[in-house]
Amino acid sequence: MIRKPKYNVAVVGVGAVGEEMLRVLKQRHFPLGELRVFARSERDIKVDNDSYHVLGISPEGFEGIDFALFAGTEGEKGAAVTFAPEAVKHGAVVIDNGADFRMDKDVPLVVPEVNAKDAKKHKGIIANPNCSTIQMAVALNPIHKLSKIKRIIVSTYQAVSGAGRSAIRQLESESEKICGVQTNAPAEKVFAYNIAHNLIPQIGAFADAGYTSEEWKMVRETHKIFHTDKIKISATTVRVPVKTGHSESIYIETQKSLDIDAVKAALSKSGSIIVKDDIANSIYPLPADCEGKDEVFVGRIRKDPFVDKGLWLWVVADNLRKGAATNAIQIAEYLIS
Ligand SMILES: NC(=O)c1ccc[n+]([C@@H]2O[C@H](COP(=O)([O-])OP(=O)(O)OC[C@H]3O[C@@H](n4cnc5c(N)ncnc54)[C@H](OP(=O)(O)O)[C@@H]3O)[C@@H](O)[C@H]2O)c1
Repeated sequence: MIRKPKYNVAVVGVGAVGEEMLRVLKQRHFPLGELRVFARSERDIKVDNDSYHVLGISPEGFEGIDFALFAGTEGEKGAAVTFAPEAVKHGAVVIDNGADFRMDKDVPLVVPEVNAKDAKKHKGIIANPNCSTIQMAVALNPIHKLSKIKRIIVSTYQAVSGAGRSAIRQLESESEKICGVQTNAPAEKVFAYNIAHNLIPQIGAFADAGYTSEEWKMVRETHKIFHTDKIKISATTVRVPVKTGHSESIYIETQKSLDIDAVKAALSKSGSIIVKDDIANSIYPLPADCEGKDEVFVGRIRKDPFVDKGLWLWVVADNLRKGAATNAIQIAEYLIS
């Protein structure tokens, strides 16, 4: 990447993640030249107190863009599949939040705290991992450095905003109905079941061996990020009625037995993790406290009472920030650093 004082950036999509991209670019003082915002249709939007003019997306719109941050829809006719190759043709480096390119061998899958250097091997497109994978990788990396992780069993408690803006509306309109409050929130049906006062133990479609696509993402993406498929990983991913902030109960087995204080020290030293673990005062990470924050929060760090090399962690992060927007912008920051 040629060093410049400022970089022209395109943000594609102004849903839950795209809006957060605009916020994070501003808050992190990204050296912005021109900013172009694309969605399916042209309009003006407001994010906090800032107004943005949204353009209808077109291949020519990427002319002169250095970084194209994609937060549109996934799939065959989605934003990234249709327009990411066009953005690359026009000279942009694409950082995509969706799943379309993550497992492509020519596309680095990057969590900067773990495998930043992979980003430099890009051929135009870099992928952001799935939100639940990112926070797990950040939390486990310092422990993996102390002693190789051999086994991971993870259960997630994933916020509705992970399924986009319409899913937030579904939670809000159902909650308001239950509470008997008059509301103008449109009734959405993103999930197959009600989500307010409920939880749904399925994220994505069922795939191999009874696991869902989201669960396989956590396995395959973690292997790609850590450059090993030797870690035995199995996941259960669950949607819960929380607006923002994914929580994960993670069990790991390491090669060597680890001292809890050494684990806490390694996590605290990592720079992007906040250890909140004071059980005497019932202090542990909560999704409501993590909203709007860029760090990954870890608590309930404890040994398996029956397995000497077994450890439990409770890991929480804002899925729209570290799980999406912040991670993407950190990749761009790394490339220009
Ligand atoms: N939500 C999360 O926590 C999270 C975390 C990690 C990754 N992701 C991924 O990030 C992406 C965006 O997610 P989201 O939650 O922000 O979705 P969302 O709230 O549903 O918003 C989607 C946005 O994409 C735009 N869009 C859709 N198709 C487009 C196209 N063909 N060309 C240009 N723009 C298009 C939409 O435009 P209009 O507004 O004009 O309709 C909308 O602004 C998805 O790939 C998702 O899997 C999400």
